[in-house]
Amino acid sequence: MTFREEIEQTSKNRKSNIILALDFPFENPRNRQNLFSNAEGVLKAAHPYLCAVKFNHHLVLPLGLFDGVQKLVERVHDNGLFAIMDCKANDIGATNQTIAEYYYAAGFDAIIANPFIGWEEGLKPIFDAATRLQRGVILLVYMSHKAASEGYGQTVIDSETGKQTPQYVTFARKALEYGASGAVVGATYPEKIREIHAVLGDKVPIFSPGIGAQGGEIAAALKAGSRYLIVGRAITGSKDPAKVAGEARKFAELGK
Ligand code: XMP
Repeated sequence: MTFREEIEQTSKNRKSNIILALDFPFENPRNRQNLFSNAEGVLKAAHPYLCAVKFNHHLVLPLGLFDGVQKLVERVHDNGLFAIMDCKANDIGATNQTIAEYYYAAGFDAIIANPFIGWEEGLKPIFDAATRLQRGVILLVYMSHKAASEGYGQTVIDSETGKQTPQYVTFARKALEYGASGAVVGATYPEKIREIHAVLGDKVPIFSPGIGAQGGEIAAALKAGSRYLIVGRAITGSKDPAKVAGEARKFAELGK
């Protein structure tokens, strides 16, 4: 099974489409053992309500990939969940290939990459590594933050059709063409989710960050076509991560 099929199956079995963004604010690097313990604690509390966990530089930088994060990835897998690395790979192909190989070697099931770099000597080496190792690649299509329109929202001349097209529509078409495992579209922009879902159909699922802390709402994102909801600080910053994760799952179930 591909990563896309596996996460779909797991999400159905666990009745959850919630992905935890395991992010924490800066800590003095001398206290990184605390950071590891916090991450472990949130994971232990929230895992019954999740289908996957998304990591970012927040943990890779202070803990290191193979000494710290890999252990957390193992805990994620022990709990029957998938691990996604939000590295937004965005470099030349040779570098991207190395980045992808390290994250896959640490056990990540999928990584996120930026389609701005194009295919030849850009994304292709990542997709080749993913195919070889049977892992996933998720592409950014429209980001969740305020300035997303400055890049992802620009109108461009599509190099294939020669027509004026929103940048994010060209990225959605590329996600389909490359057989991406998913497309990231911010929950903060339900109208963009709707438009991108119209391009992708059910072939490429939409992963939506921006729930809670950034103002995105579960019901609106699902109604517009999101398949997975990424929730970070609302859970990791809570005194009761299990409660918040459980509520998110419940809202998502009700919103379907
Ligand atoms: P919060 O705390 O805002 O965390 O719930 C969101 C997490 O997701 C990342 N993020 C994105 N990742 N495309 C991505 O690939 C996006 O558009 C995007 N928006 C937010 C963010 O860095 C954090 O880890």
